[in-house]
Parts: sequence; C-alpha cells; structure tokens
Amino acid sequence: MIADTFGRVHDYLRISLTDNCNFRCFYCMPEEEYDFTPVSRLMQTAEIIKLAEIFVANGVKKIRLTGGEPLVRKDAAQIISALGKLPVELVMTTNGTRIAEMLPVLKEAGIKSINISLDTLQPEKFFMITRRDVFHQVRSNIELLLQHKIKVKINMVVMKGLNDNEINDFIAWTKHNPIQVRFIEFMPFSGNKWTSNQMFSLEEILALVEKDFTVLPVKGEPNDTAKHFMIPGHEGSFAIISTMTHPFCSTCNRMRLTADGKLKNCLFSDTETDLLTALRKNEDVLPLIKSAIWSKKEALGGQLASDFEKIDATTIQNRSMITIGG
Ligand code: GTP
Ligand code: 5AD
Ligand code: SF4
Repeated sequence: MIADTFGRVHDYLRISLTDNCNFRCFYCMPEEEYDFTPVSRLMQTAEIIKLAEIFVANGVKKIRLTGGEPLVRKDAAQIISALGKLPVELVMTTNGTRIAEMLPVLKEAGIKSINISLDTLQPEKFFMITRRDVFHQVRSNIELLLQHKIKVKINMVVMKGLNDNEINDFIAWTKHNPIQVRFIEFMPFSGNKWTSNQMFSLEEILALVEKDFTVLPVKGEPNDTAKHFMIPGHEGSFAIISTMTHPFCSTCNRMRLTADGKLKNCLFSDTETDLLTALRKNEDVLPLIKSAIWSKKEALGGQLASDFEKIDATTIQNRSMITIGG
C-alpha cells in the first residue's frame, strides 16, 4: 500500500507517455518555443511496464495514460497492450485525434472509458485554441467511441471570454448523448499565463446552467475530481472540476509519473522523485515511491493560496501542463 501522512491511500497512477502533442493549445504549453523531450530521456516501453507493475503490486487499481497526447507516441499500441494485461483499470485522457486507428488496440486492452479534451463546439474556435483544423475528426471519433459503448467524458477547460458562452451548448449536447461533460476551472501552470480573471468558477458555471436547465446534484465516487450533476430528461450528465475554488485534496489518491520517469506526488508539487534513473541503475524504486508519497503536502502541493485571487502564477514552481498530463 502506498499512503501519505494524512492517511490518503494512493491507488490511482497517471502515466504520461510523452510530452509531445499534435495540438498547440496555449493554456497547456509554455509560451516560448518548446522542445519536446528527446526519446532517450523518455521511459522506454519496458521501463513503463516495469514501473507500472511495481505500482500495481503495491495497491494501484487504476492507471490513466496521459500526455502531451498519449497516442502520438510511436509505441503507444505496445504499451497499451502490455498494460492491458495487468490487473488494473486502464483508462486514458486524449485529444481524440487518433482514436479511429487505435480503436482495436484500445478495445483489446479492455479500455472502457476515455476522457477527451474538447474546449469548444465551434470549428473556428477549435482551430484558434489548438492551431489544428481537426474539429470534425475529433467529433466523429467521439461518435465512434459511443458506438463501441466506450464511456466518454468530455474535458472542457472554461476560460472567461473564450468559451464560457458555450457552456449551455455543451449541456444541450448531453440531451441525446450518453456523455459526461466536465467543466474544468482554469488552473495555473508554468508558462500558461494564468490570471484569476480568466477563471470561470464552479458557482459561475452552475448559475449559468441553472438559467436554462433544472440541475440536480448527484452523489459521486469517494476519490472523484469532479462534482456531479444531472438534468432531468438528459441522457448524459455534467460535472465540474473545481480545483481552484473548491479543491478536493482531502480525498486525493493520485500519483503522477512524467514521461521522463519522475514521480510527482501532486499536480502542483514543486519536487519530483527520479524513478527512471534509479530503475536504470537497477536500484529498488519502491522505497523512493513510498517516501515521495509520504512527503506529499496536505493540499495543492502547498503552493496555491486558498484565495485564488491572491495567486501569482509566475511564482509557482512546477512544470507546464503538457509535461505533467493533467
Ligand atoms: P476520472 O478518472 O475520469 O475522474 O478522470 P480525472 O479527472 O482523474 O482525469 P482527467 O485526465 O480527465 O483530468 C481532468 C481534469 O482534472 C484535468 O484538468 C486535470 O488536471 C484535473 N485533475 C486530474 N487529477 C487531478 C488531481 O489530482 N488534482 C487536481 N487538482 N486536478 C486534477
Ligand atoms: N487548467 C485546467 N485543465 C487543464 N487541462 C490542460 N491544461 C489545463 C489547465 N491549465 C486539461 C485538459 C485535459 C486534462 C488532462 O487537463 O483539458 O483534458
Ligand atoms: Fe491531489 Fe494535489 Fe490534486 Fe490536491 S491538487 S487533489 S493534492 S494532486
């Protein structure tokens, strides 16, 4: 079992397969020119599997593959197939561009739930955010997943003045589709120029939805990142991930392995534990994992002020989102 000093058992591992991505979303990447990590510094397939096995043997029940974009990695299929054989729930967060070609591999590996990042339902705005003209491809891949009865959650990062006016369009999408739309409060990461006035809060999201719809709260799972809601008569549902205004750290069960093999004990941690170098030296990584989690701070990596208006994003010691994977 992997636990911290606050009694939180950590049984959910997020593995970033690569910091490479075929999109260029401004809120995720640093502003300056960004060089993707060279392949030699990334965990190799066998190293990912070895580390995953150690985590699973020590109580991990759920593994989420993230990126960058996990499916741009050339050996993604081999990694997914191997991890699919472990006694663990395997899931993924993706931008949805490579689903069609990967579907057989995903199904074979037993993946039953996929989270897709989609911040707008407008093709032109999609291009403005991602710098890629593939809105319709992503939409049709979402349909494909639903046809194949794979559960789909849509991650929509709400940014004031950019896409807050689309919240109820996303809600309307849930009327005849069994999707869960998750509105995410915009979070600060290195280089993403976060300011509190770009943030659209849980309260603001709810007030907007309640203008047009009847909203009922729904009980979630114990370690959920999201607060859940339903709208009578809608096939799908929605949820809000409120890291900034209502953090959910007291029930945190998450660990993160970056693509270069560093363990982060929190999304906002300013320290990392280098598992890959230890593994390459044939050292025992389990004590490193345990002590990394043992040193986890109570909330938000000890870095974000509880009053989000006081946060100065430029002082936060962290990576950019593209190298953490969410
Ligand atoms: P489920 O397992 O389906 O609930 O997904 P998830 O919310 O754990 O993961 P996903 O990759 O879909 O992330 C959705 C959003 O939640 C992203 O903005 C993540 O950064 C954020 N998120 C995921 N895990 C954590 C966490 O441990 N802490 C915080 N603060 N945010 C998180
Ligand atoms: N704030 C909140 N969520 C973010 N994501 C990426 N950058 C941010 C940010 N700055 C989300 C993406 C993806 C998930 C892994 O993290 O939408 O779905
Ligand atoms: Fe866990 Fe850190 Fe996320 Fe809080 S911010 S829920 S402690 S990973």
